[in-house]
Amino acid sequence: MYKIIYNKKLSSVAYEMCVEAPHVIEKCIPGQFAIVMAQEDSERIPLTIYDYDKEKGLLYLIYQVIGASTLELTYAKNYLYSVSGPLGNANEICQNPNSFKGKRIVYVAGGVGIAPVYPQVKYLKEKGFDVDVVYGARTNEMLIIRNKLQEVARKVFYVTDDGSYGTKGFVTEVLKNRIKNYDIVVAIGPVIMMKNISELTKEAGVKTIVSMNPLMVDGSGMCGACRCEVDGKSKFACTDGPEFDGHKVNFDLAMKRMNIYKEEEKEKLQEMEKRLQSQNK
Ligand code: NAD
Ligand code: FES
Repeated sequence: MYKIIYNKKLSSVAYEMCVEAPHVIEKCIPGQFAIVMAQEDSERIPLTIYDYDKEKGLLYLIYQVIGASTLELTYAKNYLYSVSGPLGNANEICQNPNSFKGKRIVYVAGGVGIAPVYPQVKYLKEKGFDVDVVYGARTNEMLIIRNKLQEVARKVFYVTDDGSYGTKGFVTEVLKNRIKNYDIVVAIGPVIMMKNISELTKEAGVKTIVSMNPLMVDGSGMCGACRCEVDGKSKFACTDGPEFDGHKVNFDLAMKRMNIYKEEEKEKLQEMEKRLQSQNK
């Protein structure tokens, strides 16, 4: 059992949880993720390691309520049944910062995709990098962790779909106008966003790293649930990724796979809503 320090709402779609999990953060490098289970019979949920305190053994997670299991997580108060990790590979730049010295790097975050972006920007600042961030969300209140982000980024370009904060539009439009300033783009967010960013950067000849977030089960390369096609080959996001060369990912296939269980997920969400309501009456 893993003690929950807090589990709080950040916006209408995002929550932040702090949990004691020293074994997970002991050796983690940004880009890696953890798999959590709220209770013994809960589904396993892959979540980005958003921040950590190695001295205190604290792991910080940001998650979005997108289905039954993430809804159940919002009700977790005292303990999580399990926390496994760190899983997956660290971000390529964070893993080997010296080989990227002098490169002009921009991170593009879409919505809750800011959760994996923040620790990378923070880590690179500690290594002497000045990194820009283009951060887009549907509306002002969904732009989370702004103060923390501004402390570690050189400049943050905010974008909202409705124009309620920063530039009105999508992150792609802002990046397009600035692409000449960068040598490397790291894009994390909805698959359609990463697809459009990768098309833009391919045309501009700019190296692009994306982070795939498909359905996962075991998180250890055994079940095949997280299969993605990269450069015409089958790859597992959990063990080969989650980050890949954006110019080589088959995003259309990834989007198709994401929708396979949509109906079942809807039913499960409705069942979970009823179960949680009766438990919490
Ligand atoms: P969203 O649908 O609200 O979109 C966020 C932003 O992405 C938009 O404001 C816009 O700027 C951009 N965007 C959306 N559609 C676009 C398009 N067609 N073209 C260009 N840009 C577009 O996002 P959300 O609901 O917050 O979802 C966040 C996504 O991030 C989820 O899909 C989730 O799986 C993903 N995510 C990934 C990781 C990871 O580690 N890979 C971690 C957390 C979240
Ligand atoms: Fe099972 Fe990746 S989650 S192989």
